Amino acid sequence: MNVRRLSALCIIGGIALSFLTFIMVPKSKVTSFDPKPDDGVMVYQGDPNDLQPCGAFKEMRTFQAPEPVTPTATNTPNPQAPTPTAPPPTSTPLPAPSVDRVGFPANYETEFKLLFVFDRPDRKLVRAICGNDLAAQHQEGEPFAYGSVLLMISYSAKLDVTGQPVLDENGHYIAQKLVALHVQRKEEGFGEAYGENRAGEWEFVAFNEDGSYQNAPATTNFCAACHSHDGGESVDHAFRMHLWYDGDAALVSPPVGENEISIYLYAFHEDVLEVKVGTTVTWVNNDEASHKVVAAVIDDQGKVVAANEPLFESPALASVNAQPGASFSFTFDKPGEYLYLCTTHANEIGKIIVTE
Ligand code: HEC
Repeated sequence: MNVRRLSALCIIGGIALSFLTFIMVPKSKVTSFDPKPDDGVMVYQGDPNDLQPCGAFKEMRTFQAPEPVTPTATNTPNPQAPTPTAPPPTSTPLPAPSVDRVGFPANYETEFKLLFVFDRPDRKLVRAICGNDLAAQHQEGEPFAYGSVLLMISYSAKLDVTGQPVLDENGHYIAQKLVALHVQRKEEGFGEAYGENRAGEWEFVAFNEDGSYQNAPATTNFCAACHSHDGGESVDHAFRMHLWYDGDAALVSPPVGENEISIYLYAFHEDVLEVKVGTTVTWVNNDEASHKVVAAVIDDQGKVVAANEPLFESPALASVNAQPGASFSFTFDKPGEYLYLCTTHANEIGKIIVTE
């Protein structure tokens, strides 16, 4: 982080502190804000012990994914939408550990450190990512130390009567109900049981709030598979740590060229693009998750759904960790309005307006 960015953050921090009790900041440079109104200088406190406890996240709402502008107001959550936490339908269980070597982090609210929080617009969730002390000492570009435990707490967002998230005064979702605790632990030799879907030396378990299993160890091959393929070795199978290293800068989609659309943090940027007839539009996946672009229509209930015979349909566009810049192009030969969506993430919708 350069000086300009530090001071920019500091100014934003100063303003935000007037109505926030806590502000999350990138870990490696600054672990807490000291807005010092006198000189505007922010103090570097590079000690992981200065991080806030995990339980502080509800008061802390600065790290957010951009709010996607959906082309229809009638778009409601699709209960059939695939979710990353749903095991794939399979009769033969895929190989996975038979015993729990991850463990329920019962005292996470006080013992774990808060790394970052963000809204997940496609699934209307607020997610807080926390780590134990070892995980919180992790440095960008380095593998996590053995003994690291990462925890992801998912809360459903408070919705209004139309099914849209209610926003707080900062434009962020309001955490309502804890729906899952996802945990991954790294120890020497861990993960072997996942076979070819092994994600480094991590093992995975998902819990309910009371510590009962949402995904017991034997059913977690799909966790390893996604963290292996989309997460990848370059980030040691942990996603979105740039929200921690780079803070709010990591919320902004990388720039793209003319007639290009970036897929980033579960949204299309720009989600409405206007082009002339004959233009080739290219979608570039800049996200750590994989995405798929498919032409869509509005159904009888006013929902945006994938077209039965789509005019255009991309293959799965791999995560940037697996294949940087996986892209798909289509040339629009006729004027009109073309809706499209990502078939793997509900509410990730865009529109191309083609004019003469
Ligand atoms: C389809 C891919 C996918 C599957 C399946 C999946 N995850 Fe993740 N996981 C992600 C992504 C992407 C993130 C980053 C948060 C986000 O984008 O919502 C993440 C974040 C996490 C985190 C926070 C630390 C990190 O790695 O970023 C934990 C812990 C975690 N997942 C555990 C699990 C567990 C346990 C399971 C299985 C029960 C699971 N995951 C299944 C994609 C997946």
